[in-house]
Amino acid sequence: MPEYHRSVLARARRTTTAAPVAELAEHPPLPNAGGAEGARPPATSAAITADGLGRRFGKAWAIDGLSLEAEPGEVIALLGPNGAGKTTTIRLLDGVLAPHHGSARVLGLDPSTQGTELRRRTGVLTEAGGLDDRLTLTENLVTHARIRGIPLWQARQRAGELLEQFDMADKADRTAQGLSTGERKRVGLARSLLHHPEVLFLDEPTSGLDPAATRDVLDLIGGLAAEEGATVVLCTHFLTEAARLCRRVAILERGRLLAFGRPSDLAAELWSGLAVDIDLGHSADDRLVEHLRSMRGVTSVAPTPEGARVVVPDRDGVPPLTAALTGTQTAVYAVVPRPPTLEDVYFAHTGRTGAAP
Ligand SMILES: Nc1ncnc2c1ncn2[C@@H]1O[C@H](COP(=O)(O)OP(=O)(O)OP(=O)(O)O)[C@@H](O)[C@H]1O
Ligand SMILES: [Mg+2]
Repeated sequence: MPEYHRSVLARARRTTTAAPVAELAEHPPLPNAGGAEGARPPATSAAITADGLGRRFGKAWAIDGLSLEAEPGEVIALLGPNGAGKTTTIRLLDGVLAPHHGSARVLGLDPSTQGTELRRRTGVLTEAGGLDDRLTLTENLVTHARIRGIPLWQARQRAGELLEQFDMADKADRTAQGLSTGERKRVGLARSLLHHPEVLFLDEPTSGLDPAATRDVLDLIGGLAAEEGATVVLCTHFLTEAARLCRRVAILERGRLLAFGRPSDLAAELWSGLAVDIDLGHSADDRLVEHLRSMRGVTSVAPTPEGARVVVPDRDGVPPLTAALTGTQTAVYAVVPRPPTLEDVYFAHTGRTGAAP
């Protein structure tokens, strides 16, 4: 693995910090992940802005009235069910599709009129990976690098480095035909990084990857943003991935933008208070429920099969709750705050469950 990428990965792993509302994340969030106020200097100008973007196919709008932005070095996610308009948005922002209304600026350029210039500075991983099945993996990468104006010797060197980095060096001389989904994705990712892009559009970069490869790719994306200042637009169905990597998320459904912002801000717009799960080993009886309800600051109490769910204004409401429970001589196995997750926010907006946490 080349030294640069080794150090990016190492640093991305080393600098992991906790972030609010990323509770859903299985892994610790990366440096610019959700809600880390003040974690980056204020940007002077956005790397990406979309203003009322719309695109239809036939009479149906694939995306309609989309407005969002990304600062330089920010990772944003496009979330939404199948057919929501995520891929269409990426194609509009990279100038592959022209909008029917609205406008966009990416790196100061208009994608609809300056697409060729723009794409020299952007990298794309499409859902299909964009490989030519007749060419070897090296040829795929070198050809792509040459189209981007990289000299042949440099293209070969960079292709070799990236194939090694993505654990595909041993297959460098075979054709892309018959690659597994995950292998195709790795080579596609390598292809998107050949020219050190300033903006990366990644359409489901980890679908089909095994857990170790997923972790490496997420570390790499976080590292590219944090270390190189690359701006990343990530389409994903994996909410854990978005919670871990992204500062802001856009939630789309049937071509409409339902929400855009930090997961913590989106959660605060939807719900007030902090839910706390009390584990008693059995459902709370009426007396305990009444007792909890009578406590100052407690806004709601609902029995659960394991105990009760109590809502307090914020985390400062947790210690008095614990103290009150101790006073009742009740056996308490756990008192666990449950801040809303990105999954809660997502489903509240897309209406699949709509239940407040
Ligand atoms: N070239 C096209 N021709 C006709 N319809 C299209 C075309 N591209 C996209 N669409 C339609 O636009 C809508 C949005 O598609 P898009 O691919 O952007 O969704 P997506 O959010 O990326 O979905 P997925 O999660 O399945 O990848 C869909 O209804 C799709 O059928
Ligand atoms: Mg898509």
